[in-house]
Amino acid sequence: MFANLPAAKDDPILSLGLAFKDDPRSDKIDLGIGVYRNEQGETPVMKAVSIAQQRLLDQQTTQAYIGLAGNASYNQAMLDLLLSGTDSFSRSIAMQTPGASGALRLLADLIASAKPNAKVWLSNPSYVNHQPIMQAAGLDVGFYPYFDPVSKQVDEPAMLEKIAKLGPDDVLLLHGCCHNPTGADISFSAWQSITELALKNGFLPFVDLAYQGFGQGLQAPELLIASSNSKSFGLYRERSGVAIVVGETLQQTTNARGKLFELARRSYTMPPNWGAAIVAEILNDAQLSQQWQQELNQMSQRMRDLRQCLAQEFALQSGSDRFSYLTQHQGMFSLTGFNQLQLEQLREQHAIYIVSGGRINVAGLAKTFIPRLVESCLAVGV
Ligand code: LMR
Repeated sequence: MFANLPAAKDDPILSLGLAFKDDPRSDKIDLGIGVYRNEQGETPVMKAVSIAQQRLLDQQTTQAYIGLAGNASYNQAMLDLLLSGTDSFSRSIAMQTPGASGALRLLADLIASAKPNAKVWLSNPSYVNHQPIMQAAGLDVGFYPYFDPVSKQVDEPAMLEKIAKLGPDDVLLLHGCCHNPTGADISFSAWQSITELALKNGFLPFVDLAYQGFGQGLQAPELLIASSNSKSFGLYRERSGVAIVVGETLQQTTNARGKLFELARRSYTMPPNWGAAIVAEILNDAQLSQQWQQELNQMSQRMRDLRQCLAQEFALQSGSDRFSYLTQHQGMFSLTGFNQLQLEQLREQHAIYIVSGGRINVAGLAKTFIPRLVESCLAVGV
């Protein structure tokens, strides 16, 4: 049966994590997979999450099946969180999925069912899993210009020039904020231009939102959203994602939901409940929500601090301001532009693990590592 299978290709992010784990050097530094860590190197369970889990355990009366759409209260809470107050809200549905990867795949399958010749446009570069997921659904994939490697910012004129050429058979995949892998986000005026182009030319915006609450006012007649609670609720292993569809009419949205049910049923039937139940418990309780917001703000503040410290240390040790882009980027990641040889040297000679392509996870750093990290980077000639 399996004789003709080629040797498996390693996932660039997950395989790096395994190699890091196996590295016996005690001063190793992991800047790979996108997880938040505190100064002690731990990814803590948020207090709001602990309280919600205990409540759920205390109140649990059954483990019976829940239905194809998953947890209804979670779905409503996610719609409220992401779309309340927008024109799209009354034409939207949400469906709980196994992580945002599950949402991306389900929505890609929906596109392929509705329009098999659709082409999905990804930013260059994009999250490593975007292209494989879209292609696994049978969709054609293209790239639009995004990151300027010199300024380390978004090349918005080039991006908008390409997007202006997209039409009704095209799907434009955008990162809601905290772009993965670059850390460079588009401006509010670029969001407005994209909205105008979508209205005029009829392409479908598809937003991947790994960090809720930050998407900047994209109003389009039709819209897809894949969202995750891994990062904002620290629920990485619970895989609580959501797929949201906004149709042109409520009837079209309802038809799309029926299709999503069919797609889920023949793939995984229904998503696991626990992560979604935690999120619903938090978002439906004003006090817990406030607690969660506070903890989220603390995490964001720590990430901004780490960016400042890293840029300052680079400035100090290199005597140049060429690393100041680190403070302009948003979220966990920054694309550094370090080349493959430098990345290999960092890993082999300095036990510093960075994803191929040069993306660093700033949120995984401890402040105490920063001087050695910067010294090592400069030693390999970045
Ligand atoms: C990352 O990009 O490191 C994370 O979002 C984990 C993943 O799924 O790849």
